[in-house]
Amino acid sequence: MTEAELYTLYKGVYVPSALHPPHSLKFYEDFTFRPDDILVVTYPKSGTTWTQEIIPLVVSGGDSASVETLPNWDRVPWLEENRACTLNLEERPSPRMFTTHFHHNMMPPSYFQVKPKVIYVMRNPRDVFTSAYHYFGITNFLVKPGTTSDFLRKFLDGEVIFGSWFDHVKSWLNAEQTERVLYISYEEMIEDLKGSVAKIAQFLEKPLSGEVVEKIADRCLFKNMKKNAMSNYSLVPPEFMDQTKSEFLRKGIAGDWKNLLTAEEAERFDQVYKEKMKDVKYKFAWD
Ligand code: A3P
Repeated sequence: MTEAELYTLYKGVYVPSALHPPHSLKFYEDFTFRPDDILVVTYPKSGTTWTQEIIPLVVSGGDSASVETLPNWDRVPWLEENRACTLNLEERPSPRMFTTHFHHNMMPPSYFQVKPKVIYVMRNPRDVFTSAYHYFGITNFLVKPGTTSDFLRKFLDGEVIFGSWFDHVKSWLNAEQTERVLYISYEEMIEDLKGSVAKIAQFLEKPLSGEVVEKIADRCLFKNMKKNAMSNYSLVPPEFMDQTKSEFLRKGIAGDWKNLLTAEEAERFDQVYKEKMKDVKYKFAWD
């Protein structure tokens, strides 16, 4: 099926229509934040699910029940998705935890008034591309990726769900001066998960002992998260997501793009990356 059949164009970016009917986008626009809300913000395939595991564990002081009771999409729900309006989010105790894939300029008015805490997770776009390439192939609500070079063209032009990776990252890097944002990368989390958990805990003003940090980091290792039915998407019926083709928690490494992109495709990626990111001062973990 095509973009026209599966996607809705919302504020200039594609969103999967199946998960984003008009009433859920309206719910998002009217949403009222609290100052102690915690918002996980990512471009898809950057480490969203991983962060949805870490945050509840940090907030609960390492209580496993915080990630064993609800699936990740109800535990740290996407505000723009259709389930959000069914979860009575206004009745949840503080601190509430949410996710969004939206660009900074797509945030609803209440976000700019209240300025909740944001954890912005970013990942080497070449690996985001690679992860997305496999993911788009297993879902029934996304346009099939086609060949790597077809998908590369679409990805670099932002003709995929949630638009351009470049625009997403640049929009959120601009939020730094005025809002409360912790920037963290997938690569940092791979390199030093304990340190990353401690950094997140500090940002959330949740003092944790070294022992608890260690326990959380251990629980959030790829191999352990894969066993958590509330986080590995095994609850999603195979007609929506066929994990026999490729698992949602697929490889969990940095640098897998080297196994997918040809030398020529990698070169094309680099050229576009250099051009689009030339004015960005931020030092990315993967550069
Ligand atoms: P791969 O497809 O490269 O394996 P998102 O949750 O934003 O959709 O991102 C999914 C990517 O994060 C997948 O990447 C998935 O395997 C990876 N991931 C999820 N949990 C992880 C963990 N605990 N450690 C490392 N990678 C993880």
